[in-house]
Amino acid sequence: MNSDINAARLIRFFPSRGIRLVRAQGQYVWDSEGKKYLDCHAGNGAAFLGHNNPVIVRRIVEQASRMMTCPPIFDSDILEECLTMLGKILPRRLMNVYFMNSGSEAVELALKLARKRTGRRKFASFTGSFHGRTMGALGMTHNMKYRSGYDPFPWEHVFLTFNDQSSLEKIDESFAAVIVEPVQGEGGLNIANKEFMKILAEKCSTTGAILILDEVQAGFGRTGRLWAYMDYEISPDILVAGKSIGGGFPVSFVAVKDEIASKVEEGEHGSTHGGNPLALAAMIGGVEVLISDDVPSRAREKGRSLAEGLAEIANTYPEVVRGVKGRGLMTGLDLRYSPSEMIRQLQSMGLLALKAGTTVLRLLPPYLITDEDIDWSIRIIDEVIKMYQEKIRKARGGEEIGRS
Ligand SMILES: Cc1ncc(COP(=O)(O)O)c(C=O)c1O
Repeated sequence: MNSDINAARLIRFFPSRGIRLVRAQGQYVWDSEGKKYLDCHAGNGAAFLGHNNPVIVRRIVEQASRMMTCPPIFDSDILEECLTMLGKILPRRLMNVYFMNSGSEAVELALKLARKRTGRRKFASFTGSFHGRTMGALGMTHNMKYRSGYDPFPWEHVFLTFNDQSSLEKIDESFAAVIVEPVQGEGGLNIANKEFMKILAEKCSTTGAILILDEVQAGFGRTGRLWAYMDYEISPDILVAGKSIGGGFPVSFVAVKDEIASKVEEGEHGSTHGGNPLALAAMIGGVEVLISDDVPSRAREKGRSLAEGLAEIANTYPEVVRGVKGRGLMTGLDLRYSPSEMIRQLQSMGLLALKAGTTVLRLLPPYLITDEDIDWSIRIIDEVIKMYQEKIRKARGGEEIGRS
């Protein structure tokens, strides 16, 4: 990457994708060779409102020249304005917020609040879940690949089976909280069943366990609803948001009900950069865009077109594709094979995508994706899957390739 031997080296937890990005705008990015890509990776979904969204850029630039640092122990216009804007999109029951910088940190705070408020030590999360990589959030995350070497975690915890009502029986008065994603992202674009979520909410309510909805990936319009949980007849005690809320600027928050906020003690939590004025400005811009462009409707409409195209591909290539997964613009194909090779191939053809679970080819495009972009994506995904199918058929004479 850098030929200067005195330059610092990036720790590579993941290998480089092999292209150097130099510019981004809306739903597209460009590499150093001038090649344009449709960005359905969108920085792990953070650029859902489009790269360099002009409304958000203007807000950040204005704020940068005014005041870049101001912890929330001081009052400020930007803090007040941000709280007013969030009041437009937060559930009435969850009007108390605290700002962090990443999804994992916000999950940490949600867990801490639940632990202290209930005085209980036990947590539950679900199979297929992803809640982040800091130690508390990692303790809730199901994927063994991320956990191993760090476990056992120093708190009591059980994994319940996602979408299995009988597993909810295990929730009792010893639980501080249950954390759930209404649509699992990393775990494979799995949608929670309505009845399952209803029973989960009832169980939390009767046992006094705090229900934490992790909408770091699914929230802020991406699934076609402002908050994905609004597809269910439930009301969480804590909502966690991140990724797209700052239009690509690092920011996250927890929103909690009055009974939790009113018992917070002085000095119990804090963050040097949490609620940074630039992050608040980015969020103000984000909410402006969300409302003025009716982003949830756009995500619903474009998500439908994308899913229709993907369903045709699934029907055409059943040997490679199991089906379509996800909701809104959090969608993809469940493959019978690892998607890694296809993701590489799509990238070489100008489409950036990412993996979810072990077999899902995931697309997290910005809401600005057009019908032309969708038609083009479907055409090239079709081409790549067709090539893969031909390869499999050829390999059939010999050994089968990488089937999962
Ligand atoms: C549902 C969910 N929760 C938490 C996180 C962690 O967020 P971050 O990577 O910003 O720490 C993620 C990230 O992918 C996520 O999808």
